[in-house]
Amino acid sequence: MKIFFKKSEITEYLDELKASSASIGFVPTMGALHSGHLSLIKQCLKNNKVSVVSIFVNPTQFNNTSDLINYPKDLKKDIELLENLSKKIIIFSPEAKEIYTDKELTNKYDFNGLDKFMEGKFRNNHFEGVATIVELLLKIIKPNSAYFGEKDFQQLAIIRSLKTNVNIVGCPTLRDINGLALSSRNIKLSVKSKTVASNIFKNLNFIKSNFHKSSIENLISTATNNINSFDQMNLEYLEIAEENKLVPTNVIKSEKKYRAFASVFVDGIRLIDNIALN
Ligand code: PAJ
Repeated sequence: MKIFFKKSEITEYLDELKASSASIGFVPTMGALHSGHLSLIKQCLKNNKVSVVSIFVNPTQFNNTSDLINYPKDLKKDIELLENLSKKIIIFSPEAKEIYTDKELTNKYDFNGLDKFMEGKFRNNHFEGVATIVELLLKIIKPNSAYFGEKDFQQLAIIRSLKTNVNIVGCPTLRDINGLALSSRNIKLSVKSKTVASNIFKNLNFIKSNFHKSSIENLISTATNNINSFDQMNLEYLEIAEENKLVPTNVIKSEKKYRAFASVFVDGIRLIDNIALN
């Protein structure tokens, strides 16, 4: 199993493999790996000769210092998980100063409105941080394909909108048996809170089941009340938006595809989820 900490070393190593025209697949992560991450990596291993996984908690995408400090980190366990999956995986785990040389800067972007609502509205500059790090990592790894989860659907849409020359592959959301979307942040939840948190998915499913039966206003208000009826949960947003524009709406057009998006604090831990409605 190869693990690199320096840009120059992984670039040199991958350049040699590229010379033999091996296809390179890439899965960027922030570590604290779980089965959701592993499902992306399995897809990557299946489709490519060479698979690279980055583990880097990107400081510039956190709009809140305590969230960054408290973000779960366990490199040793991550390496073990990857090693058990396949010894062929190449890990890139740089320090922040290796990536941002002297200053943690983000680029400016026009995401054509994709960043105006949901995560973009509640996490200031989050997507500038994500786009900057994804572009930096793609420049270092230069993969043929890169894999991202629909769990972060708005992030996936924004990455697709970048001009990268890389095939961006979206992968379905993995959930626990109760429906809770797997997330690195779930480690911070007690068993009881996880059970309560599974009501996020239950309510997204309720919206899906009643999508054409009731008004959007009614569905949102019923699901909002259901979620907020649990003492441990505090809904931040619940929106229905068309998949391509990601602008919340109450008006459904039959030819378009819609998703419901939610962000909920569960015992103070911020969780997000989304579901296709039609
Ligand atoms: P992270 O939250 O570690 O997620 C890494 C990748 O795993 C993302 O593409 C995310 O959508 C996917 N993922 C997370 N939970 C998933 C689940 N339950 N099922 C399927 N896929 C899941 O997203 C980031 O890191 C960062 O923003 C990053 C893109 C690495 C840039 O720093």
